Amino acid sequence: MSDNPKPPRYASWTAGKLPLPELAEMKRRGDKIVMVTAYDAPSGRLADAAGVDLILVGDSSGMVVHGRESTVAVSLDEILFMTQWVARGAKRPIVIADMPFGSYEESDEQAVRNAVRVVKEGGADAVKLERGGTSVSRAQAIVGAGIPVMGHVGLTPQTATVLGGFKAQGRTAERAQQLVEDALELEAAGCFAIVLEAVPPAVGQAATQALTVPTIGIGAGADTDGQVLVWHDMLGFYEGRSPRFVKRYAELGEAIVEALEQYAEEVRNGSFPEERHTYKMPEEEQADFERSPTRNPK
Ligand code: KIV
Repeated sequence: MSDNPKPPRYASWTAGKLPLPELAEMKRRGDKIVMVTAYDAPSGRLADAAGVDLILVGDSSGMVVHGRESTVAVSLDEILFMTQWVARGAKRPIVIADMPFGSYEESDEQAVRNAVRVVKEGGADAVKLERGGTSVSRAQAIVGAGIPVMGHVGLTPQTATVLGGFKAQGRTAERAQQLVEDALELEAAGCFAIVLEAVPPAVGQAATQALTVPTIGIGAGADTDGQVLVWHDMLGFYEGRSPRFVKRYAELGEAIVEALEQYAEEVRNGSFPEERHTYKMPEEEQADFERSPTRNPK
């Protein structure tokens, strides 16, 4: 062991899960919170290895993993499966699962019932739901049932049609004020953090100053308490345009195509597999096999 062990990164750090109350402490200290989406065990494990604080099993899966045009069709079963996979891979980060569209809109009872499934069957530590309005009462009911809730305002993809598409929100003074009020209502309902998506930096800053719980921005400027990006966006899994708020930290799509092209070439020209990729048979067994009727048909 080193004589000079690194001090724990968090005030209430334990060997296991990052404690949820630590997020408020991080806001207080001005330590930025790092969040990323993940959809399976390897991505959960890699995010954990990179020291990410929060993992979102986002319904963005509908678009980036399953190739749909929107997140609306994502089912609760899909979220449950993906959350189980991510939770197996990620030990320290807090795993938050998105409540998909249709799983919480009907009533507080429906919201609690499905949030309980996400935690109990999926293994999530917390759930996220979108919008203010009726979602405030849903958030309060879920928090009342003992499940931590993250809010999400601004561009809310589940209701993008109502918002006029996937576009920035809060660009008028009235709408900006409304978004900050929605965030405050969600905080009062007991949410432990609020995602602010695709809003001008002034809205990100105002909400961050107004709230005591942390704000996590995605296209909300640099003043929020943390940032979130979608796995496939930030790692460059696809060609073409990404949303304005995305920074591509790698071009894994290109790297994957290159690797697959090389594999295809080597299969076709016979240079793969090599001997080191094969299994040995004891010499006597091989000799017997060569003498067997299978190898010497009449
Ligand atoms: O589904 C998702 O990935 C999200 C993030 C964009 C915040 O809600």
